[in-house]
Amino acid sequence: MFDKKTIRDVDVNGRRVLVRVDFNVPLKDGLVADDTRIKAALPTLNFLAKRGAAVVLCSHLGRPKGKVVPGLSLKPVADRLAELLDYPVKFVSTTIGPEAQAAAKELKPGQFLLLENTRFQPEEKGNDPDFAEKLAKFGEIYVDDAFGSAHRAHASTEGVTKYLPAAAGFLMEKELDYLGRVLDAPEHPFVAIIGGAKISDKIGVVESLLWRADRLIIGGGMANTFLAAKGLAMGDSLVERESIETARDLLSQAGEKLLLPIDSVIADAFRADASSRVVAVENVPEGWRILDIGPKTVERFRAALEHSKLVVWNGPMGVFEFPKFAEGTRAIAQAIVDCGAEAVIGGGDSAAAIRQAGLVDKISHVSTGGGASLEFLEGKVLPGVAALMDKDARL
Ligand code: 3PG
Repeated sequence: MFDKKTIRDVDVNGRRVLVRVDFNVPLKDGLVADDTRIKAALPTLNFLAKRGAAVVLCSHLGRPKGKVVPGLSLKPVADRLAELLDYPVKFVSTTIGPEAQAAAKELKPGQFLLLENTRFQPEEKGNDPDFAEKLAKFGEIYVDDAFGSAHRAHASTEGVTKYLPAAAGFLMEKELDYLGRVLDAPEHPFVAIIGGAKISDKIGVVESLLWRADRLIIGGGMANTFLAAKGLAMGDSLVERESIETARDLLSQAGEKLLLPIDSVIADAFRADASSRVVAVENVPEGWRILDIGPKTVERFRAALEHSKLVVWNGPMGVFEFPKFAEGTRAIAQAIVDCGAEAVIGGGDSAAAIRQAGLVDKISHVSTGGGASLEFLEGKVLPGVAALMDKDARL
């Protein structure tokens, strides 16, 4: 149960509301290349405008390292937002300072102002209290709808809550409801699928889901380290030697619960046009590397998903950015849909894969968070969430 105050709990009529959104979206040729995160914030933004709030928006974009990087300006995002909202959207090319303050002051109920990239200021990542206080001056209430950034204790996600009453937006609430259920009250049979290149990035989530799930499926590059821990030769495949001991421990803890690939698509180079073939995982030759799971593995994983009630998936099964090695990831996305379970996709690459496969509408919840959903599933407290007002706090 989500136990923080939301925008339903605060009176925003005629007030200025500072909203932290995660508009960290891919840009191409100066335009927004994927507006999923912008669209995901619309329910909150429309709700606030309808209730008579004047809304000042802030977000980071990319990693400009505390400097103004023109290619990481939020201006294209403001333009896209203006197309998506039925309310006026203004943009100001500074994050704080007199120009931004003046623009915010002029804002009327039902109008929006997007501030420039918070990370153009070094104080953002440093969670500098002065900067946080300056940001707080843009609103009388703070709303956090930036689930994707909730694992960052930065000035606009955490510091600012020291100066304003802080409530969650609808996206934040929805993300925490779905992901929270995975951790606290999963329906069984519950199957977790973890992929991605590196086991070292995923140990926390594997450990967290291992005892919650009835089945744990491991694919992607990280499966190689598990296979190597079982004594198999992996040729030139990515194997994290320093994690082999950990993989061995996890294998012995998990027993029958953990499923690994039984065949693989191997390639003679890490290239989109490399020569490829399918082999059993016991037969990976020298000079070849695993870049995807094989068809027998897909069938094995598909069978494990049958009759499941809840599936959580984080990380691709292979190098899906190369079409030749995308089939395993695509097939698992399809298998998740076909099994009919409630499905929660933990952001980043798996969300991209689901989108690429055209299956987003068939999935219960595709998280907008990459690192945030991963840290949440690891059982970590997200600073951006912890800082919000508790549901039962007096206003
Ligand atoms: C994300 O895309 O995962 C979030 O926007 C956070 O971005 P960051 O990893 O640069 O903090």
